[in-house]
Amino acid sequence: MGTFGLRSNSILPICLTIYSVIVAITEASGTPQVKWISCPKDIPPGVECGTINVPLKYKGGTSTAGDGSQTIELFLTRLKSTSTGHRQPLFFNPGGPGVPAAALIADGIYVPNLGFSANVREAFDIVGVDPRGVGHSSPVLCDADIFNQRVPTFVKNDQDFRKLVYHNRRLGESCRRLSGPIVDNLDVIHTVKDHEVVRQALGATHFNYFGLSYGSLLGQQYIELYPKKVGRMALDGIVAHSQSETDTLITEASTYERTLDKFFEWCDSNSTCALHGRNSKKIFDEVLATADKKAIPAPGCAGSCQPNVTGEDIRYNAQDFLEFYDLPVAPNWIDLAGAIAQAHAGNATILSTALATNESQGAVEGSPYAYLAIGCQDWRHGASIARQLEGRLSITKRFAPQTKGASQTYYYQSTCIGWPAKTTNGQRKLHIQSTSRAPPVLLVHSTYDPSCSPVWAELVAKQLPTSVSITRDGYGHTSHFLLGETRSVIDLYLATGKLPRNGAVYKT
Ligand SMILES: *[C@@H]1O[C@H](CO)[C@@H](O)[C@H](O)[C@H]1NC(C)=O
Ligand SMILES: *[C@@H]1O[C@H](CO)[C@@H](O)[C@H](O)[C@H]1NC(C)=O
Ligand SMILES: *[C@@H]1O[C@H](CO)[C@@H](O)[C@H](O)[C@H]1NC(C)=O
Ligand SMILES: *[C@@H]1O[C@H](CO)[C@@H](O)[C@H](O)[C@H]1NC(C)=O
Repeated sequence: MGTFGLRSNSILPICLTIYSVIVAITEASGTPQVKWISCPKDIPPGVECGTINVPLKYKGGTSTAGDGSQTIELFLTRLKSTSTGHRQPLFFNPGGPGVPAAALIADGIYVPNLGFSANVREAFDIVGVDPRGVGHSSPVLCDADIFNQRVPTFVKNDQDFRKLVYHNRRLGESCRRLSGPIVDNLDVIHTVKDHEVVRQALGATHFNYFGLSYGSLLGQQYIELYPKKVGRMALDGIVAHSQSETDTLITEASTYERTLDKFFEWCDSNSTCALHGRNSKKIFDEVLATADKKAIPAPGCAGSCQPNVTGEDIRYNAQDFLEFYDLPVAPNWIDLAGAIAQAHAGNATILSTALATNESQGAVEGSPYAYLAIGCQDWRHGASIARQLEGRLSITKRFAPQTKGASQTYYYQSTCIGWPAKTTNGQRKLHIQSTSRAPPVLLVHSTYDPSCSPVWAELVAKQLPTSVSITRDGYGHTSHFLLGETRSVIDLYLATGKLPRNGAVYKT
């Protein structure tokens, strides 16, 4: 979970140059092998690049055989261990869904926040597989013009609802037209099996893994399918996938609103906040009330973002800014304060929604198309009339009076209605086989995370009996990028197997 909005321009030597990927669907032949190739030009130097053909659609259960003979190409990078000799791979997935993993592995060589500690670099080769539909792995493309049409998701009546469903269907059909049948085969079960195929192709005895946010779901469902193959696994920013639609929404909306309240507390006590000395919560309320009446202009967009900003836009977009407190390489609290101050003065440019383009499918900060297309297969979105959506929102509003339920969960619950691909991996409890050796998985969450609630960390901990759960008592989504104590604990576990005490709390 979490639109993982890293700021591409500030972190990467080269970015957004799209290496055109051949989405060729070919016939399968024998056991998949990694083919090492020269790296595409948007991958910073220092890693090896490879491709592998995997089934377009897998058979059910634990099978990694194709259901049908069509295959797709996946792309991956490998950062060799700093020690000599053969090392096992540590797989990395940054979540989203829709964030490419392969480029981030290389970026980590240059940007310390994105990399791993020396002990992990020594212990493992680090491998990033762009998830199917993402980055260089047969990326999903949708019609950008349809994508950029803003149709309100906070429906007020049947007419709004019909408009929304019509839009969603047209958008989904454009994705299928431009991307082919991959649109039906994007759920995390497929991505788990892709990783299993790559593990085998690399000759790794176990699946060592570090997953952020939505990537924590990949880890959980890997444990479910291949418990005996799990090596060292750490998950940071925990997504639970076991609640009903309404509970999922309330849980995310509440953690967003709670974190927003912390943001106002910070603003009122810290002079770094651009709203310091003014009642920040009241100012935000005024901005929302203004935008709800009439969209606020965004004069600085110049074709890169929407020309104006509605209350709904602000409620969705503010969540991204809360993901990092003061991390310079991502939108953060300091930026949000400035954005609200400017919007209050009539210029809402910074809060405006970015316009999608054909290049967005490979964007290093995440593809908006894959974000939606994957989410629609992994989250339930059952609502067939306006009243069902309104009913769910009216309960949620009591827990989130300012943001009213705007969240990644609500985006899927509204924008996936009418989507042409089926929800193939909707929420349900994990089936952990009690006879199998339950592997010790390290679960990490933070107390004020705007997208992944501490409730989700607890739900997942209960479903994984031998998990060890730790907390960073602080702000923001995920902890590894922050280079604090929590990251040291994660990296020590990955590198050596030394687990922290269950329930340990860290400040940084
Ligand atoms: C004020 O906020 C800044 C930026 O988030 C932070 O670095 C600083 O430590 C805060 N100061 C205090 C006194 O909390
Ligand atoms: C906001 O921008 C849209 C185009 O995205 C335009 O159709 C609409 O009229 C604008 N609304 C206002 C209030 O400026
Ligand atoms: C609006 O804000 C943006 C972002 O801060 C800025 O680049 C732009 O110049 C501003 N435009 C006006 C007309 O004030
Ligand atoms: C975007 O991609 C589609 C499909 O490849 C193509 O038809 C369209 O012309 C592209 N649009 C732009 C602006 O490049």
